[in-house]
Amino acid sequence: MQINYREPAADLQKRIEIHEKYGTRNIDEWNVEVLNPQPGQSILDVGCGAGKQCFLFDKHTQGQAQIFGGDFSEELLGKANERLAGLGSKNIHFQFLDFNKPFEFQDGKFDIATSSFAIYYASDLKFTFSEAYRVLKPGGRLFVTGPLPENKKMFYDIIKEATNKAIPPMPGSSRFKGEIFNTIDSIFDKTELLSWENPLIFPEVEPFMEYVQASLNEDRKLWTDLFNNAEEYKSLIGSIEKVAKAWHARDGKLVMTKVVGGILAHKK
Ligand SMILES: C[S@@+](CC[C@H](N)C(=O)[O-])C[C@H]1O[C@@H](n2cnc3c(N)ncnc32)[C@H](O)[C@@H]1O
Repeated sequence: MQINYREPAADLQKRIEIHEKYGTRNIDEWNVEVLNPQPGQSILDVGCGAGKQCFLFDKHTQGQAQIFGGDFSEELLGKANERLAGLGSKNIHFQFLDFNKPFEFQDGKFDIATSSFAIYYASDLKFTFSEAYRVLKPGGRLFVTGPLPENKKMFYDIIKEATNKAIPPMPGSSRFKGEIFNTIDSIFDKTELLSWENPLIFPEVEPFMEYVQASLNEDRKLWTDLFNNAEEYKSLIGSIEKVAKAWHARDGKLVMTKVVGGILAHKK
C-alpha cells in the first residue's frame, strides 16, 4: 500500500508541544523505561523526526551510546541537527533514511532499533521490518510505538459529529494491532504487545482546536477525504469547533486519551 504521507515540521512541533503541556505522561520516557538503553550500546531510531527520542536515549546513557536517527524529511533532520549543534553531543548522528528503501547500515550493527509513530507508514511492512531485523545484532530488540484503535476516541467522535462522515482510516491505528504486529511477529523470534495511556486534558477549547488543525492540515495528506480546498477546510474547522464548544460547555473540559501500543520484538 502506497501512503502519500508528509509531516511538516511546524505541525509535528505543535502536536509535541500540546502533548507536553496537556498530557499527563511522556511517551519518550516510556520508550526509555521499556528499553533501558545502556552505555556502549548502538541504537537506531527510524523516522526520528526532530530527534527527541535520540536526545533522551543520549541523556539516559550519559552520552555513552552510539545513536543514529534516520528520517526522510530534510526539514526535520535540519531541526535535529540544529538542536544537536547546541548540545555538542558527540555520539548522536542524524542522517537521511527512507524506510521504504534498504537501510544503509551493515547487518548486525545495532542493539536496539526503535520507531515512534513513524514506521507504520511504510509501504511494504515485510520489507521494512526485515531491514530492521537485518541491522540488529543477535539478541537485539525492536520497539515500535503507534496508536491503537481506541486511540483519541473523543477526537474522532467530535469530527464524526461535526461532519456526519466516516473518518478516513488512519494508516497507524487501522493496522497497528493487526497487520503491523503480525508482520513483525512473522520476522522476529519473540514479539509482545504492550500498551500505554496518556489522557490529554484541555481546560479550554482553543488548544484542542490547535491540535485539530495540526492534525488535519492539508499538507499531511491524511485527511483530504474530508475537504477539497481551503474554503472547505475552513468550514470543516468551524463545524468541529462548534461541536467542541458544545462538549466543553457540557463537561467543563475536553479529555482526549492517547492509547498507544508498543510492539517489542526480539532477535535471537
Ligand atoms: C509523527 S512523526 C514522528 C517523529 C518522531 N519519531 C517523534 O516521535 O517525534 C513521523 C515521522 O516519520 C517520518 N517518515 C515518514 N515516512 C518516512 C519514510 N518513508 N522514511 C523515513 N521517515 C519517514 C516523517 O518525516 C516524520 O518525521
